[in-house]
Amino acid sequence: MTTPALGRPTIDRETCVALDAADPLSRIRSRFSLPDGVVYLDGNSLGALPRDTAAHVQRVITEEWGTGLIRSWNDAGWFAKPQTVGDLVAPLIGAGPGQVVLGDSTSSSIFQATVAAARLRPGRRVIVAERGSFPTDLYVLESVQELLGGGRPLERRLIADDGPTLDDVLDEDVAVVLLTHVDYRTGRMHDMAEVTRRIHAVGAVVVWDLCHSVGAVPVDLVGADADFAVGCTYKYLNGGPGSPSFIWVAEQHQADARPALTGWHGHAKPFDFTVDYAPASGVERFRVGTPQLLSMSALEVSLRLWAEVDLGEIREKSLCLTELFISLVDARLTPRWGVEVVTPREPARRGSQVSLRVGSGYEIMQALIERGVIGDFRAPDLIRFGFTPLYTSYADVWDAVDTLESVLDGEVWREPRFARRGTVT
Ligand SMILES: Cc1ncc(COP(=O)(O)O)c(C=O)c1O
Repeated sequence: MTTPALGRPTIDRETCVALDAADPLSRIRSRFSLPDGVVYLDGNSLGALPRDTAAHVQRVITEEWGTGLIRSWNDAGWFAKPQTVGDLVAPLIGAGPGQVVLGDSTSSSIFQATVAAARLRPGRRVIVAERGSFPTDLYVLESVQELLGGGRPLERRLIADDGPTLDDVLDEDVAVVLLTHVDYRTGRMHDMAEVTRRIHAVGAVVVWDLCHSVGAVPVDLVGADADFAVGCTYKYLNGGPGSPSFIWVAEQHQADARPALTGWHGHAKPFDFTVDYAPASGVERFRVGTPQLLSMSALEVSLRLWAEVDLGEIREKSLCLTELFISLVDARLTPRWGVEVVTPREPARRGSQVSLRVGSGYEIMQALIERGVIGDFRAPDLIRFGFTPLYTSYADVWDAVDTLESVLDGEVWREPRFARRGTVT
């Protein structure tokens, strides 16, 4: 794609526009309501709004809630929504129907899943996690370590991409390993089947955090023989801000798994209102209390879009988009500005984002956002760009690198207003 002699990419914007015209997924872009003049590369943080969502949620509010009132718990299938909407997530993660249930936030689902996983290995006193995992995973584990430790917290062993490795820490004391399939900072992807096999070899149980993989890369939990998985639905699944998380439990664990929070919606017969808790038979025991119905109704709309696409097609386009971005950065930015691509170049090890290490990354990202190219910043020095094959175009990729080059060239990011930090970066 590049001319080494010039160090410049031979690909130009017209070629990108032609790639878009030939892209079978470009038909889906029009199903999203994206503002004009915006190159949206932050779908790995908050997915875009599908066009049909607002009308559907409006209908749920006026008809199901306004007119149906309490009757909608039965008539509109509200009570079963965490399972029926979970069934729409299932094909995206290689799970069968009845194996996925929606929860609250990902953090609370991590708690539900890791406690249940640890309880499957009583007597083992070690939990393994990743130093670089999204911090909430580690924060939640601190509670799990304390709660299940019987007065002395369970031991935590941390692995990292630059060591210690999984093999350094795995032994028969390990109860649970909590791993993020695609790293939120670097976009590095684990080989799920191979890593699961090594964890099982010492008799431990694995919990996969799929926040940056569901809808971004094909996931095959059953094929990988995984045990538990959790993920969010507001990133690549476009469920909207705060849309519910999901939990998957492998069929072989469903009868024995004991969730951390045993609420009435996870009871075998919630409307018997008995004094004692009796778990529902399957994954629905991971439900807790009354679900966020409005949020779930928005998610239902965005999940229905996935029936129209093939995950292989999504992956192929994702790799082309990230490859194009990396090659343009290599050719136009790295030689002059020392911008470093930290995302693995090997396709099999890459999710659907590319992260760049660059000094003054926060200010540079703010200057980019002001010019309509929206990515985000992760401290201390990474700017992230998420590529969402449902709506990201090849021209978006070209425009993003072109704008980044002009921000760096003109040093516009040095303007003091770009240093002002918002609460969310
Ligand atoms: C990998 C990962 N895990 C967990 C979370 C936390 O999710 P929540 O805010 O839904 O609890 C995030 C949030 O971005 C994440 O990226």
